[in-house]
Amino acid sequence: MKNRYLRSASGADSVTMGSVSDICVRLAQLSDHDQLVRMHEALWPKTPAEEHVRELTQILEGKPVVTTPLIILVAEVSDGVLAGFLEVDLRSHADGCNPSRQVGYIEGWYVAENHRHKGIGRRLLAAAEDWARNQGCVEVASDTWVDNEVSQRVHEALGYEVVDRCVHYRKTL
Ligand SMILES: CC(C)(COP(=O)(O)OP(=O)(O)OC[C@H]1O[C@@H](n2cnc3c(N)ncnc32)[C@H](O)[C@@H]1OP(=O)(O)O)[C@@H](O)C(=O)NCCC(=O)NCCS
Repeated sequence: MKNRYLRSASGADSVTMGSVSDICVRLAQLSDHDQLVRMHEALWPKTPAEEHVRELTQILEGKPVVTTPLIILVAEVSDGVLAGFLEVDLRSHADGCNPSRQVGYIEGWYVAENHRHKGIGRRLLAAAEDWARNQGCVEVASDTWVDNEVSQRVHEALGYEVVDRCVHYRKTL
């Protein structure tokens, strides 16, 4: 998942967009801001709402904090109504990937509960992979929480292999 302080919005022009029946996968735009905030809150409930607002405003206004390319893809089900989003960027390296090449990285991926199991997550991921491919990547990486079994099953169903499992520690100094 994303490091919230390493964000930018560039390299968006080469993404492959597509639609299946009435679902359209496209780049996020400023008018998606409020719906994206709500979906960010659903995916990352521990992050303060103001931080989601600030971060999304920066990305959607094309004012990157850093220069790493990052895009937000959204799945639009009808007339501006969004069912999900995916944020993908480039990282200089990722666990299990070739360390000499940059890697497409899935930073956030969410489909609203009432729209799950319809192939929307799959479409978002395919568009993200196309974007990473067009950025010159030969690998794409992702992560999820150890207790998020659905996410693990979906990743594996869509061709992702487990390369590592981590335990994070802290100590007050
Ligand atoms: C992960 C998530 C984005 C998947 O979205 P989705 O639109 O439901 O996924 P899809 O319908 O495209 O499913 C893709 C494949 O994953 C598998 N899959 C989907 N839901 C599954 C579930 N609950 N259990 C097991 N496998 C599942 C299926 O193989 C499916 O392929 P199929 O439809 O051909 O059988 C969605 O479940 C979600 O938003 N979860 C909460 C947030 C989250 O955990 N995000 C990921 C954090 S990295």
